[in-house]
Amino acid sequence: MRVAVFDTHKFDREALEEANQNKHDLHFFEARLRLQTAPLAKGYDAVCCFANDRADAETLKCLKEMGVRLLALRCAGYNQVDLKSAKENGITVVRVPEYSPYAVAEFAAGLLLSLNRKIHRAHNRVREMNFSLDGLVGFDLHNKSVGVVGTGRIGKVFAQIMRGFGCNLLAYDLQPNLEWAKANEVQYVDLKELLHKCDVISLHIPLSAGTHHLIDENAFELMKPGAIIINTGRGGLIKTKALIKALKSHSISGACIDVYEEEADVFFSDLSDVGIDDDQLSRLLTFPNVLVTSHQAFLTREALNAIATITIESIKRFENQGDLKEVIITY
Ligand code: NAI
Repeated sequence: MRVAVFDTHKFDREALEEANQNKHDLHFFEARLRLQTAPLAKGYDAVCCFANDRADAETLKCLKEMGVRLLALRCAGYNQVDLKSAKENGITVVRVPEYSPYAVAEFAAGLLLSLNRKIHRAHNRVREMNFSLDGLVGFDLHNKSVGVVGTGRIGKVFAQIMRGFGCNLLAYDLQPNLEWAKANEVQYVDLKELLHKCDVISLHIPLSAGTHHLIDENAFELMKPGAIIINTGRGGLIKTKALIKALKSHSISGACIDVYEEEADVFFSDLSDVGIDDDQLSRLLTFPNVLVTSHQAFLTREALNAIATITIESIKRFENQGDLKEVIITY
């Protein structure tokens, strides 16, 4: 199949070429998928794109006019796709439901350790020959309560990592996995209780109409004073305005943010020469107790290889009219 790969970076191009072995005719574009860039897909059977590409109704209509029949997402989340329009335009949408939950869960744990023990600040200080320890006091994770919001593939691994640190685990999920919870000494509670009791809260649920701004002013008010919030899920889970308010009032002690609700035009790009227009992100970057990374949690060799292999295989199965039930997303 002829495949137009959007939003390509060196790392995913290498992994896709390695997995492809000339099975498909891949063409790499650096542009993100948008209505304006969709005509690049003219004459291609499939479009392959990532988390910050935008497959809204107009873009999908344009892709159909270009002859595209398959949209292959190189990610698990699919909040960026208008599934109803995809169906209306006869475009099949596949994703990579699981590639490496360890990549994301380990990164979330890494962010927490860096923020709590101020490793990012210490690193900068020492490079400036400042060996002072003032302002670098953290807390033991041992015996602290950690709340895991969403105990799917990633949330479960994160919980198990935190269990290794000797934390008490609370969890919230619409579909609790009681057997796993029992085996791992995790206690399911409602969201209100989790927010109220936990020193650390980590978000591992998909973004949907039901979870958009799940963490808003009200949620921050319910949180234990001095809590740390980690978001490696999707930016829209946290209302940024409410996060900034909580940070300004010191009601929470910090935030680890790998995803941001307006990340699409900023993350994955080198804007060091031009700066950013986004005042909320600029404000977040001024807090010493906020760690922002650019949607990087997935970025391990193992995850990239798995994403590439599953994507190439899904395209092959679509071409051969094979069974897509594990990867297809239906409206
Ligand atoms: P999963 O589908 O295995 O687990 C999601 C869990 O959330 C399920 O247990 C489900 O029951 C629960 N859930 C769904 N809606 C809920 C709600 N309204 N309230 C409470 N629980 C709810 O997904 P997985 O693989 O663990 O990934 C989680 C999310 O992480 C993805 O949807 C994606 O947005 C994000 N992600 C971020 C990455 C990054 O690089 N930062 C990479 C990969 C995924």
